[in-house]
Amino acid sequence: MHILVTGGVGFIGGHLAESFLLDGHDVTVLDNFEPFYAKGIKNHTLEIHRKVAANGESEYRFVEGDVREPETVREIVEDVDIVVHQAAQAGVRTSVENPRKVADINVDGTVNLLEASKEADVDRVILASSSSVYGKPNSLPYAEDHPTEPVSPYGVTKLTQEHMARVYTELHGLPTVCLRYFTVYGPRMRPNMAISNFVSRCLNGEPPVIYGDGTQTRDFTYVADVVDANRTLLKSDAADGDVLNIGSSDNISIQELAETVRDQLAPELEIMYESAREADAQHTHASVEKAGEVIGYEPSRTITEGVGEFIEWYQSNREWYEPLVQES
Ligand SMILES: NC(=O)c1ccc[n+]([C@@H]2O[C@H](COP(=O)([O-])OP(=O)(O)OC[C@H]3O[C@@H](n4cnc5c(N)ncnc54)[C@H](O)[C@@H]3O)[C@@H](O)[C@H]2O)c1
Repeated sequence: MHILVTGGVGFIGGHLAESFLLDGHDVTVLDNFEPFYAKGIKNHTLEIHRKVAANGESEYRFVEGDVREPETVREIVEDVDIVVHQAAQAGVRTSVENPRKVADINVDGTVNLLEASKEADVDRVILASSSSVYGKPNSLPYAEDHPTEPVSPYGVTKLTQEHMARVYTELHGLPTVCLRYFTVYGPRMRPNMAISNFVSRCLNGEPPVIYGDGTQTRDFTYVADVVDANRTLLKSDAADGDVLNIGSSDNISIQELAETVRDQLAPELEIMYESAREADAQHTHASVEKAGEVIGYEPSRTITEGVGEFIEWYQSNREWYEPLVQES
């Protein structure tokens, strides 16, 4: 199978492309190295892809290009079987500061992908959506039919992307699936996120900083589970035209998360608090019942197990990863 991974040297796309190569698929990555965080992390991922491809039978092609350019996208999509669309301007705060740019990448870029996929008659487009589409909770955990009322421009772009995908399925018969990821973490994760920040600061004897009072809760999803869901969908039409939550088995308050990391790495540190950040959701918690029923999805780790694994990974990769986390 030939798979296009957009945003394929980013955190999640990087793991997806690596796993598809290991499975023997041919992979094309389209990424513009958007300078949202240190480029070195993406270069590292690109090197991993090249090594994996060199050690196997799969073909790997990296294209430095932008999903906002319809011509580039059309040429690349022409001979692929499946599109796995991860390219986006992630980050709620960036979207508050620069909504125009976020809309251009997340909405216009997606339309380019869908249009090219329709023309090339690809087998399926799998799109990265987000728990941010829900906004304020009426009830938790969020099931997929919970009302969607995003509280950030980022959430609005992800919801628009979902509707656009559904309409392409309904109007043109293009199979699409949207996966609503709930805060994803793991090796090579984005630096500007709670888990990477807490680990980096505690290892350096600096107190973890919580924005807000720490009562906000999050579902943290291990990246391997996101990869599993996408791998299943390469070969399954069970979720075509639909949306699925991809989350973990439990959720945790930011206070508890900071304590878990602090207690493992530097129990003597006092947690610090700064004012809450604008447009951050207060609570996220996924119901993964539907994903379980439709594609057999099952989260593999508790947050404590996953954070433990991430800390181990961080310590073994500290030399190259930490300076890049601190630079971002
Ligand atoms: N990490 C999470 O917790 C999380 C949660 C929910 C949803 N998501 C979604 O998952 C996807 C991947 O997120 P991530 O955490 O890996 O983020 P990331 O920033 O690490 O990866 C996104 C990649 O897309 C690339 N990109 C950005 N704009 C582009 C453009 N115009 N053209 C081509 N490439 C472009 C970036 O260079 C980057 O490599 C995104 O769609 C994001 O919205 C992530």
